[in-house]
Amino acid sequence: MTTYRVLTDEDVAQFLQRGFVKLPQAVPPDIIAEYTANVWERLGYDPDRPDTWEKHWQPLPHTKGKEVREISPVIYDAICDLCGEDRIGKAWWGDSLIVNLGRAEDEAAWEPPTATAPGWHTDGDFFKHFLDSPEQGLLTIVLWSDVTPRNGATFVVGDSVPHVAKHFAAHPEGLMPNDLSTREHVQKCTDFFEATGEAGDVYLLHPFVIHASSRNATRRLRLITNPPVHLKEPMNFNRPDGDYSLVERAILNGLGVPHYDFQPTAPREKVETGRERAKREAEAAKAAS
Ligand SMILES: [Fe+2]
Repeated sequence: MTTYRVLTDEDVAQFLQRGFVKLPQAVPPDIIAEYTANVWERLGYDPDRPDTWEKHWQPLPHTKGKEVREISPVIYDAICDLCGEDRIGKAWWGDSLIVNLGRAEDEAAWEPPTATAPGWHTDGDFFKHFLDSPEQGLLTIVLWSDVTPRNGATFVVGDSVPHVAKHFAAHPEGLMPNDLSTREHVQKCTDFFEATGEAGDVYLLHPFVIHASSRNATRRLRLITNPPVHLKEPMNFNRPDGDYSLVERAILNGLGVPHYDFQPTAPREKVETGRERAKREAEAAKAAS
């Protein structure tokens, strides 16, 4: 019987069935204040002049960061419970806030999360995906502001893990980030919800959970980050001692087997992201001019 540091039996059952745990009020208020204090200066916007906000959505580059274990021992312990303490490579959070201010048009256009909503994806645009990939050990959603319904909350598909797991298992040669058949998987799912909560709440999700950004119909500032947790080694679905992490266990459950002998048949690869390509092309254009 595995003993967990912070997760309750209900948390464990929910993670295995719906792919997430929610840690309420897990980020200390002083860290929230520190990471969000100058957000309007960083945006360059007047908070009282919505008519002048040029971009309704933007990711801010980080200016500071800390190890998760420094920010919140509870969050770090929960990550250990999900991934296995000695298997975590990097768990670091910066203030790279993803800002959603909404637009007037979002109020009328907002729709609840369903299979037909736009933007469904799994995270990890920087690597070729295999069933056991270590690059994205968990998906994390940190709420740095209150996030109410219709406020640009991340849309989540709680029952997506088995479909993604089966797809990856069928492709030991690996899949590029834009070739994951996410929309097909979503058509088979029914557990759609908004990741709402209060500033300081943290969602830790299985890396195979399909999700999407949504419109902010309220025009109230919405701040989140979604830092990945990196694993030291690829996941292992055939452990002789049966010491599977909860992330691994959810994948085995999704495949419907007690263990699975997975071997990639092609090399792991780093993938150039859209951000990296834009930067490279801008630098090349500058050098050529
Ligand atoms: Fe995402």
